[in-house]
Amino acid sequence: DKGNHRHFMQKEIYEQPIVVAQTLRSYLQRLEGKVALPIPDFDLSGIKRVTIVACGTSFYAGMVAKYWFEQFARVPVDLDVASEFRYRAPVMEPGGLMIVISQSGETADTLAALRHAKNEGQTIAAVVNVPTSSMAREADLLLPTHAGPEIGVASTKAFTCQLSVLAALAANLAKAKGRLSADEEKQIVRHLAEAPAAINGALAYDEAIEGMAGAVAGARDVLYLGRGTDYPLALEGALKLKEISYIHAEGYAAGEMKHGPIALIDEHVPVIVIAPSGPLFEKTVSNMQEVQARGGKVILISDYDGIEAAGDGCIATITMPKVHPLIAPIVYAVPVQLLAYHVAVAKGTDVDQPRNLAKSVTVE
Ligand code: M6R
Repeated sequence: DKGNHRHFMQKEIYEQPIVVAQTLRSYLQRLEGKVALPIPDFDLSGIKRVTIVACGTSFYAGMVAKYWFEQFARVPVDLDVASEFRYRAPVMEPGGLMIVISQSGETADTLAALRHAKNEGQTIAAVVNVPTSSMAREADLLLPTHAGPEIGVASTKAFTCQLSVLAALAANLAKAKGRLSADEEKQIVRHLAEAPAAINGALAYDEAIEGMAGAVAGARDVLYLGRGTDYPLALEGALKLKEISYIHAEGYAAGEMKHGPIALIDEHVPVIVIAPSGPLFEKTVSNMQEVQARGGKVILISDYDGIEAAGDGCIATITMPKVHPLIAPIVYAVPVQLLAYHVAVAKGTDVDQPRNLAKSVTVE
Protein backbone atom coordinates (compact mmCIF):
# COMPACT_ATOMS: atom_id res chain seq x y z
CA ASP A 1 0.00 0.00 0.00
CA LYS A 2 1.45 3.33 -1.09
CA GLY A 3 -0.62 5.32 1.42
CA ASN A 4 -0.90 8.87 0.14
CA HIS A 5 2.28 8.58 -1.91
CA ARG A 6 2.35 8.42 -5.67
CA HIS A 7 5.01 5.70 -5.82
CA PHE A 8 6.53 3.13 -3.49
CA MET A 9 9.88 4.80 -4.00
CA GLN A 10 8.52 8.08 -2.68
CA LYS A 11 6.90 6.34 0.28
CA GLU A 12 10.14 4.54 1.07
CA ILE A 13 12.18 7.75 0.87
CA TYR A 14 9.78 9.29 3.36
CA GLU A 15 9.94 6.32 5.72
CA GLN A 16 13.64 6.86 6.32
CA PRO A 17 13.51 8.87 9.55
CA ILE A 18 11.43 6.11 11.13
CA VAL A 19 13.22 3.07 9.77
CA VAL A 20 16.67 4.48 10.45
CA ALA A 21 15.61 5.19 14.04
CA GLN A 22 14.14 1.70 14.25
CA THR A 23 17.35 0.16 12.94
CA LEU A 24 19.62 2.19 15.19
CA ARG A 25 17.62 1.13 18.21
CA SER A 26 19.11 -2.39 17.93
CA TYR A 27 22.64 -1.05 17.71
CA LEU A 28 22.76 1.80 20.23
CA GLN A 29 22.12 2.00 23.93
CA ARG A 30 21.27 5.60 23.74
CA LEU A 31 20.94 6.45 27.41
CA GLU A 32 24.15 4.69 28.35
CA GLY A 33 25.94 6.23 25.35
CA LYS A 34 27.11 2.82 24.17
CA VAL A 35 27.14 0.99 20.85
CA ALA A 36 25.99 -2.62 20.86
CA LEU A 37 25.46 -5.56 18.56
CA PRO A 38 22.26 -7.64 18.35
CA ILE A 39 24.41 -10.56 19.54
CA PRO A 40 26.00 -8.80 22.52
CA ASP A 41 28.77 -11.29 23.33
CA PHE A 42 30.00 -11.71 19.74
CA ASP A 43 33.75 -11.20 20.00
CA LEU A 44 35.26 -8.91 17.36
CA SER A 45 38.59 -8.35 19.09
CA GLY A 46 40.48 -10.93 16.99
CA ILE A 47 39.46 -9.46 13.62
CA LYS A 48 42.56 -8.56 11.64
CA ARG A 49 41.08 -7.76 8.27
CA VAL A 50 37.67 -7.02 6.83
CA THR A 51 36.41 -7.98 3.38
CA ILE A 52 33.24 -6.28 2.19
CA VAL A 53 31.29 -7.65 -0.74
CA ALA A 54 27.96 -6.53 -2.21
CA CYS A 55 26.26 -5.36 -5.42
CA GLY A 56 24.73 -2.11 -6.61
CA THR A 57 23.53 0.26 -3.95
CA SER A 58 24.52 -2.18 -1.20
CA PHE A 59 28.07 -2.05 -2.61
CA TYR A 60 28.08 1.73 -2.25
CA ALA A 61 27.04 1.36 1.39
CA GLY A 62 30.04 -0.95 1.74
CA MET A 63 32.27 1.63 0.13
CA VAL A 64 31.25 4.23 2.71
CA ALA A 65 31.84 1.63 5.43
CA LYS A 66 35.41 1.05 4.26
CA TYR A 67 36.22 4.65 5.22
CA TRP A 68 34.64 4.12 8.63
CA PHE A 69 36.32 0.78 9.45
CA GLU A 70 39.72 2.11 8.51
CA GLN A 71 39.24 5.45 10.24
CA PHE A 72 37.77 4.19 13.53
CA ALA A 73 39.05 0.65 13.93
CA ARG A 74 42.27 0.98 11.86
CA VAL A 75 41.54 -2.44 10.38
CA PRO A 76 42.43 -2.87 6.69
CA VAL A 77 39.44 -3.35 4.42
CA ASP A 78 39.11 -5.11 1.08
CA LEU A 79 36.09 -4.17 -0.96
CA ASP A 80 34.69 -5.83 -4.05
CA VAL A 81 31.60 -6.00 -6.14
CA ALA A 82 30.32 -9.51 -5.57
CA SER A 83 30.38 -10.47 -9.24
CA GLU A 84 34.16 -9.90 -9.33
CA PHE A 85 35.16 -11.15 -5.90
CA ARG A 86 35.72 -14.83 -6.60
CA TYR A 87 37.51 -14.19 -9.85
CA ARG A 88 40.50 -12.39 -8.42
CA ALA A 89 41.63 -15.24 -6.15
CA PRO A 90 41.18 -13.11 -3.02
CA VAL A 91 43.65 -13.78 -0.22
CA MET A 92 41.74 -14.43 2.99
CA GLU A 93 43.76 -15.23 6.05
CA PRO A 94 42.47 -16.62 9.35
CA GLY A 95 41.02 -13.93 11.57
CA GLY A 96 39.24 -12.25 8.70
CA LEU A 97 35.71 -10.91 8.83
CA MET A 98 33.68 -11.07 5.66
CA ILE A 99 30.77 -8.62 5.55
CA VAL A 100 28.09 -9.14 2.93
CA ILE A 101 25.54 -6.38 2.48
CA SER A 102 22.22 -7.07 0.79
CA GLN A 103 18.69 -5.78 1.00
CA SER A 104 17.17 -9.03 -0.27
CA GLY A 105 19.72 -11.41 1.20
CA GLU A 106 19.35 -13.44 -2.00
CA THR A 107 21.54 -11.72 -4.61
CA ALA A 108 23.24 -14.64 -6.34
CA ASP A 109 26.74 -13.18 -6.63
CA THR A 110 26.78 -11.95 -3.05
CA LEU A 111 25.54 -15.29 -1.74
CA ALA A 112 28.19 -17.12 -3.76
CA ALA A 113 30.85 -14.79 -2.33
CA LEU A 114 29.59 -15.51 1.19
CA ARG A 115 29.91 -19.26 0.61
CA HIS A 116 33.35 -18.88 -0.91
CA ALA A 117 34.58 -16.87 2.08
CA LYS A 118 33.03 -19.35 4.50
CA ASN A 119 35.02 -22.13 2.84
CA GLU A 120 38.11 -20.01 3.31
CA GLY A 121 37.49 -19.90 7.05
CA GLN A 122 36.24 -16.33 7.31
CA THR A 123 33.76 -15.22 9.95
CA ILE A 124 30.66 -14.09 8.08
CA ALA A 125 28.62 -11.05 9.03
CA ALA A 126 25.52 -10.28 6.96
CA VAL A 127 23.84 -6.88 6.85
CA VAL A 128 20.48 -7.87 5.37
CA ASN A 129 16.98 -6.52 5.33
CA VAL A 130 15.11 -9.80 4.86
CA PRO A 131 15.68 -11.78 8.08
CA THR A 132 14.53 -15.09 6.58
CA SER A 133 16.86 -14.84 3.56
CA SER A 134 19.64 -17.26 2.60
CA MET A 135 22.36 -14.81 3.64
CA ALA A 136 20.71 -14.23 7.01
CA ARG A 137 20.61 -17.98 7.60
CA GLU A 138 24.15 -18.70 6.51
CA ALA A 139 25.91 -15.88 8.38
CA ASP A 140 27.67 -16.26 11.73
CA LEU A 141 26.65 -12.75 12.71
CA LEU A 142 23.30 -11.51 11.46
CA LEU A 143 23.09 -7.73 11.44
CA PRO A 144 19.56 -6.89 10.37
CA THR A 145 18.43 -3.60 8.90
CA HIS A 146 14.90 -2.83 10.01
CA ALA A 147 13.81 -0.98 6.89
CA GLY A 148 10.66 -3.05 6.41
CA PRO A 149 9.71 -4.37 2.96
CA GLU A 150 11.28 -2.38 0.14
CA ILE A 151 9.12 -2.57 -2.98
CA GLY A 152 10.60 0.05 -5.30
CA VAL A 153 13.33 -1.45 -7.47
CA ALA A 154 15.49 1.57 -6.71
CA SER A 155 16.85 0.97 -3.23
CA THR A 156 16.45 3.91 -0.86
CA LYS A 157 15.55 3.17 2.75
CA ALA A 158 17.55 -0.06 2.74
CA PHE A 159 20.66 2.00 1.88
CA THR A 160 20.37 4.46 4.76
CA CYS A 161 19.61 1.61 7.15
CA GLN A 162 22.66 -0.30 5.89
CA LEU A 163 24.81 2.78 6.52
CA SER A 164 23.40 3.05 10.04
CA VAL A 165 24.25 -0.57 10.84
CA LEU A 166 27.71 -0.29 9.30
CA ALA A 167 28.55 2.86 11.26
CA ALA A 168 27.54 1.09 14.47
CA LEU A 169 29.54 -1.98 13.46
CA ALA A 170 32.61 0.14 12.77
CA ALA A 171 32.28 1.65 16.24
CA ASN A 172 31.85 -1.82 17.77
CA LEU A 173 34.95 -3.07 16.01
CA ALA A 174 36.93 -0.01 17.08
CA LYS A 175 35.81 -0.63 20.65
CA ALA A 176 36.72 -4.32 20.54
CA LYS A 177 40.15 -3.32 19.24
CA GLY A 178 40.64 -0.89 22.12
CA ARG A 179 40.61 2.09 19.79
CA LEU A 180 37.55 3.86 21.11
CA SER A 181 37.50 5.72 24.41
CA ALA A 182 34.26 5.82 26.39
CA ASP A 183 33.97 9.47 25.48
CA GLU A 184 34.44 8.84 21.74
CA GLU A 185 31.86 6.09 21.95
CA LYS A 186 29.41 8.49 23.55
CA GLN A 187 30.01 11.02 20.80
CA ILE A 188 29.41 8.45 18.07
CA VAL A 189 26.17 7.36 19.71
CA ARG A 190 25.10 10.98 19.99
CA HIS A 191 25.82 11.72 16.32
CA LEU A 192 24.10 8.58 15.06
CA ALA A 193 21.07 9.28 17.20
CA GLU A 194 20.76 12.64 15.43
CA ALA A 195 20.41 11.00 12.01
CA PRO A 196 16.61 10.54 11.93
CA ALA A 197 15.94 14.21 12.70
CA ALA A 198 18.55 15.28 10.17
CA ILE A 199 16.90 13.09 7.51
CA ASN A 200 13.66 14.89 8.30
CA GLY A 201 15.49 18.15 7.74
CA ALA A 202 16.68 16.87 4.36
CA LEU A 203 13.15 15.80 3.39
CA ALA A 204 11.99 19.36 3.98
CA TYR A 205 13.86 20.26 0.80
CA ASP A 206 11.71 17.95 -1.32
CA GLU A 207 9.67 20.64 -3.07
CA ALA A 208 12.72 22.70 -3.91
CA ILE A 209 14.36 19.61 -5.42
CA GLU A 210 11.23 18.92 -7.42
CA GLY A 211 11.60 22.42 -8.83
CA MET A 212 15.10 21.58 -10.07
CA ALA A 213 14.12 18.36 -11.80
CA GLY A 214 13.41 20.13 -15.08
CA ALA A 215 17.01 21.29 -15.31
CA VAL A 216 18.19 17.66 -15.22
CA ALA A 217 15.35 15.89 -17.03
CA GLY A 218 16.34 17.26 -20.44
CA ALA A 219 20.00 16.28 -20.14
CA ARG A 220 21.60 13.40 -21.98
CA ASP A 221 24.45 13.00 -19.50
CA VAL A 222 24.79 13.94 -15.85
CA LEU A 223 27.87 13.81 -13.62
CA TYR A 224 27.97 13.43 -9.85
CA LEU A 225 31.07 14.43 -7.90
CA GLY A 226 32.14 13.84 -4.32
CA ARG A 227 35.20 13.23 -2.17
CA GLY A 228 35.76 10.91 0.79
CA THR A 229 32.50 9.28 1.85
CA ASP A 230 30.71 11.57 -0.60
CA TYR A 231 32.40 9.75 -3.46
CA PRO A 232 30.32 6.57 -2.96
CA LEU A 233 27.32 8.88 -2.66
CA ALA A 234 28.16 10.33 -6.07
CA LEU A 235 28.21 6.78 -7.45
CA GLU A 236 24.90 6.05 -5.73
CA GLY A 237 23.35 9.25 -7.10
CA ALA A 238 24.37 8.34 -10.63
CA LEU A 239 23.06 4.78 -10.25
CA LYS A 240 19.74 6.02 -8.88
CA LEU A 241 19.31 8.50 -11.73
CA LYS A 242 20.22 6.09 -14.50
CA GLU A 243 18.09 3.23 -13.27
CA ILE A 244 14.83 5.15 -12.99
CA SER A 245 15.15 8.05 -15.46
CA TYR A 246 17.30 6.29 -18.10
CA ILE A 247 19.58 9.31 -18.28
CA HIS A 248 23.23 8.42 -18.62
CA ALA A 249 24.92 9.38 -15.37
CA GLU A 250 28.39 8.82 -13.91
CA GLY A 251 29.73 9.30 -10.44
CA TYR A 252 33.33 10.38 -10.03
CA ALA A 253 35.74 11.12 -7.25
CA ALA A 254 35.92 14.92 -7.55
CA GLY A 255 39.70 14.85 -7.92
CA GLU A 256 39.50 12.45 -10.86
CA MET A 257 37.72 15.02 -13.03
CA LYS A 258 40.83 16.45 -14.52
CA HIS A 259 42.14 13.00 -15.38
CA GLY A 260 39.58 12.61 -18.13
CA PRO A 261 35.90 13.24 -17.52
CA ILE A 262 36.26 17.02 -17.55
CA ALA A 263 36.51 16.66 -21.33
CA LEU A 264 32.78 15.91 -21.30
CA ILE A 265 31.82 19.17 -19.65
CA ASP A 266 29.85 21.75 -21.55
CA GLU A 267 26.69 23.75 -20.88
CA HIS A 268 24.51 20.70 -21.59
CA VAL A 269 25.93 18.54 -18.78
CA PRO A 270 24.47 19.12 -15.32
CA VAL A 271 27.01 18.32 -12.60
CA ILE A 272 25.75 17.42 -9.14
CA VAL A 273 28.36 18.21 -6.50
CA ILE A 274 27.97 16.62 -3.06
CA ALA A 275 30.08 18.62 -0.61
CA PRO A 276 29.15 19.12 3.04
CA SER A 277 31.28 21.78 4.68
CA GLY A 278 34.23 20.16 6.46
CA PRO A 279 37.84 19.19 5.89
CA LEU A 280 37.34 18.09 2.24
CA PHE A 281 35.10 20.99 1.25
CA GLU A 282 37.71 23.37 -0.20
CA LYS A 283 39.22 20.70 -2.41
CA THR A 284 35.88 19.62 -3.82
CA VAL A 285 34.90 23.23 -4.41
CA SER A 286 38.04 23.85 -6.42
CA ASN A 287 37.10 20.84 -8.62
CA MET A 288 33.63 22.31 -8.91
CA GLN A 289 35.05 25.64 -10.05
CA GLU A 290 37.04 23.88 -12.75
CA VAL A 291 33.75 22.50 -14.01
CA GLN A 292 32.10 25.92 -13.88
CA ALA A 293 34.99 27.50 -15.76
CA ARG A 294 34.13 25.16 -18.63
CA GLY A 295 30.48 26.12 -18.69
CA GLY A 296 29.27 23.17 -16.58
CA LYS A 297 25.92 23.71 -14.84
CA VAL A 298 26.43 22.83 -11.20
CA ILE A 299 23.86 21.84 -8.61
CA LEU A 300 25.60 22.04 -5.24
CA ILE A 301 24.39 19.95 -2.32
CA SER A 302 25.90 21.26 0.91
CA ASP A 303 24.89 22.84 4.20
CA TYR A 304 24.22 26.50 4.86
CA ASP A 305 27.91 27.35 5.38
CA GLY A 306 28.92 25.49 2.25
CA ILE A 307 26.26 27.15 0.11
CA GLU A 308 27.21 30.58 1.53
CA ALA A 309 30.84 29.98 0.67
CA ALA A 310 30.47 28.44 -2.77
CA GLY A 311 26.86 28.62 -3.97
CA ASP A 312 27.34 31.60 -6.28
CA GLY A 313 27.58 30.56 -9.87
CA CYS A 314 25.63 27.32 -9.34
CA ILE A 315 22.39 26.86 -11.27
CA ALA A 316 20.79 25.55 -8.07
CA THR A 317 21.74 24.70 -4.51
CA ILE A 318 20.29 22.21 -2.04
CA THR A 319 20.75 23.13 1.62
CA MET A 320 21.11 20.23 4.03
CA PRO A 321 21.10 20.52 7.79
CA LYS A 322 24.56 20.91 9.26
CA VAL A 323 25.55 17.45 10.49
CA HIS A 324 28.58 15.65 11.84
CA PRO A 325 30.68 14.08 9.03
CA LEU A 326 29.90 10.59 10.40
CA ILE A 327 26.22 10.86 9.54
CA ALA A 328 26.59 13.04 6.44
CA PRO A 329 26.36 10.06 4.04
CA ILE A 330 23.10 8.97 5.70
CA VAL A 331 21.62 12.45 5.39
CA TYR A 332 23.00 13.39 1.95
CA ALA A 333 21.58 10.18 0.46
CA VAL A 334 18.15 11.79 0.72
CA PRO A 335 18.52 14.72 -1.74
CA VAL A 336 20.26 12.38 -4.17
CA GLN A 337 17.28 9.99 -4.02
CA LEU A 338 14.75 12.82 -4.30
CA LEU A 339 16.47 14.32 -7.31
CA ALA A 340 16.45 10.99 -9.18
CA TYR A 341 12.84 10.46 -8.17
CA HIS A 342 11.59 13.83 -9.41
CA VAL A 343 13.57 13.64 -12.64
CA ALA A 344 12.02 10.23 -13.34
CA VAL A 345 8.55 11.55 -12.56
CA ALA A 346 9.18 14.54 -14.84
CA LYS A 347 10.19 12.14 -17.61
CA GLY A 348 7.19 9.92 -17.00
CA THR A 349 9.14 6.68 -16.60
CA ASP A 350 7.97 3.74 -14.49
CA VAL A 351 9.59 4.75 -11.21
CA ASP A 352 8.89 1.61 -9.20
CA GLN A 353 9.42 -0.93 -11.98
CA PRO A 354 12.08 0.45 -14.30
CA ARG A 355 12.65 -1.42 -17.55
CA ASN A 356 15.09 -4.35 -17.63
CA LEU A 357 15.54 -4.44 -13.85
CA ALA A 358 14.47 -6.90 -11.16
CA LYS A 359 14.24 -6.14 -7.45
CA SER A 360 16.33 -9.12 -6.59
CA VAL A 361 19.00 -10.50 -8.93
CA THR A 362 19.09 -14.23 -8.25
CA VAL A 363 21.18 -15.28 -11.26
CA GLU A 364 24.92 -14.68 -11.59
O1 M6R B 1 19.25 -7.09 -2.56
P1 M6R B 1 20.62 -6.51 -2.74
O2 M6R B 1 20.90 -5.39 -1.82
O3 M6R B 1 21.69 -7.57 -2.68
O4 M6R B 1 20.61 -5.92 -4.21
C1 M6R B 1 21.78 -5.38 -4.76
C2 M6R B 1 21.48 -4.61 -6.03
O5 M6R B 1 20.85 -5.43 -6.98
C3 M6R B 1 20.59 -3.39 -5.76
O6 M6R B 1 21.14 -2.53 -4.79
C4 M6R B 1 20.37 -2.59 -7.05
O7 M6R B 1 21.56 -1.99 -7.48
C5 M6R B 1 19.27 -1.54 -6.85
N1 M6R B 1 18.33 -1.60 -7.93
C6 M6R B 1 19.82 -0.14 -6.73
O8 M6R B 1 18.81 0.81 -6.58
